[in-house]
Amino acid sequence: MRKIILLGYMGCGKTTIAQKLSKIIRIPYLDLDKCIEERTNLSVNEIFEQRGEIFFRKIEHEIFIELVNLPESLIIGLGGGTPCYANNHELLNGQNILSIYLKASIETLFNRLNINKINRPLIASLNELELKEFIAKHLFDRSYYYNKATQKVDVDNKSVDQTVLNILEILA
Ligand code: S3P
Repeated sequence: MRKIILLGYMGCGKTTIAQKLSKIIRIPYLDLDKCIEERTNLSVNEIFEQRGEIFFRKIEHEIFIELVNLPESLIIGLGGGTPCYANNHELLNGQNILSIYLKASIETLFNRLNINKINRPLIASLNELELKEFIAKHLFDRSYYYNKATQKVDVDNKSVDQTVLNILEILA
């Protein structure tokens, strides 16, 4: 069965786009962060605070493998860092896997994350200038892994519906 994996930096729209896509193509959507929260009974913030990032990356890797190996067709939304740790990027090219990098510019990501960073432990404490620099550097470091996706969709200046349409074209 087929897996459609959505990936990209925090704030690129993975969750919103996956939810909409899921309704249209009637393939269930699972959010990796949510699965981690359910498994640990902790929020992502609490995991970072109480157990540290290394623990988070370990369980993220384990649950990602579990989801990829489930027998049914699924849309899987990754966390922004998932492809960049524990060789997770190697799973983006597996059999029956379509992985889509939702590519957003630093500007787009900054505008979205600046008003919505509280629940994101990596950026919650940064001021505007720090946030912009952080995104620029982090995105540069991570792009190598994001570009391992089998497909890329630009999300800058597009509505959710337009992006979903682009994905539907890829799936057609
Ligand atoms: C992270 C992104 C978050 C979450 C965690 C770490 C990252 O997911 O997995 O806070 O390393 O970029 P979202 O991209 O859904 O915010």
